[in-house]
Amino acid sequence: MVETQLELLDQIEQGALEALGGVTSEQGLEGWRVTHLGRSSPLMGAFDRLGQIPKEERPAIGRRANEAKRLLESALAEKAAALRQQALKRTLLGDRLDITLPGRPLARGRLHPSTQIMRQIQRIFAEMGFQVYRSRDVETDEYNFQLLNFPPHHPAREMQDSYYIHSPGSGDNPMLLRTHTSPGQIRAMREYSAANPHNPPPVRIILPGMCYRYEQVNARYEVQFNQIEGLAVGEEITFSDLKGTLSDFARRLFGQKVLTRFRASHFPFTEPSAEMDIECFVCGGAGCPVCKRTGWLEILGCGMVHPVVLQNGGYDPQRYTGYAFGIGVERITMLRYRIEDIRNFWGNDLRFLEQF
Ligand code: PHE
Repeated sequence: MVETQLELLDQIEQGALEALGGVTSEQGLEGWRVTHLGRSSPLMGAFDRLGQIPKEERPAIGRRANEAKRLLESALAEKAAALRQQALKRTLLGDRLDITLPGRPLARGRLHPSTQIMRQIQRIFAEMGFQVYRSRDVETDEYNFQLLNFPPHHPAREMQDSYYIHSPGSGDNPMLLRTHTSPGQIRAMREYSAANPHNPPPVRIILPGMCYRYEQVNARYEVQFNQIEGLAVGEEITFSDLKGTLSDFARRLFGQKVLTRFRASHFPFTEPSAEMDIECFVCGGAGCPVCKRTGWLEILGCGMVHPVVLQNGGYDPQRYTGYAFGIGVERITMLRYRIEDIRNFWGNDLRFLEQF
């Protein structure tokens, strides 16, 4: 009896260990636990039968049964640890991050071509002693036109179709998006002269920024564009200073050999007024499609500050004179890089922008 019971426990233990050898998954292991250590397992059956075994045989068989149970339990724990280890290894290998892969290159941003040229122009004028003055984009009719010597209904307004802003009760002085940077001339002069009304200081500034016109958009005209305004006011400033400064500017921007010419023009806020051309650098003055066969490219408007404008800025025209100019930034950028369509500037097409 004792022998058969002990043999049976050997077999149970043996069989369970063999079955455990074939377990390869955590679910399989749980199945194994139920079969070999669960309530209706052969081993538990042996415990149940202990009561029917003669008293003197019980201790030996009971000890053996407990031993088998401990052995199977520790085998189970070991197997569970091994399976966990395997699973960990699998995920480590399977989801491996290969840190030897080169990183993905980050797309590098760059400055918009207009910004690049604006900064270049600003640098040139900074070297000549001009300071940057920032003026607002939203203006009043008074600053954008009236104080610049365009009375209401003046025909020169025709050149600058405007985006008016709904401004009830403003009468003859509605708000609008500035159509040029020139209203900044008045704002700057008023600020400078307010500091010392009887003896206003000289002014030497440039005013860069976006301007807005109600244009039919096409290859040459956009509804927004950048200008750089320039203003110099002081005693004994002459037209020669204007010519010298702007010719020097053209040489610094387009190269020492560039030729310039001034053509008479008209702006209400300058007198006399002129437009400055440079010799066409595409054909060297011979005439080509870029310069429309004239040999010259127009790059800015300029003139001596009109006495009315000086007065409006708080500068006595008997004592002070000055010159002003306005550069179309996109226009210059187009000439510089032979860009044929101004719509490229705000079209946001990376194929265009990445070329600069
Ligand atoms: N404001 C003028 C324009 O936009 C340009 C200009 C500026 C002309 C200063 C003369 C003096 O057309």
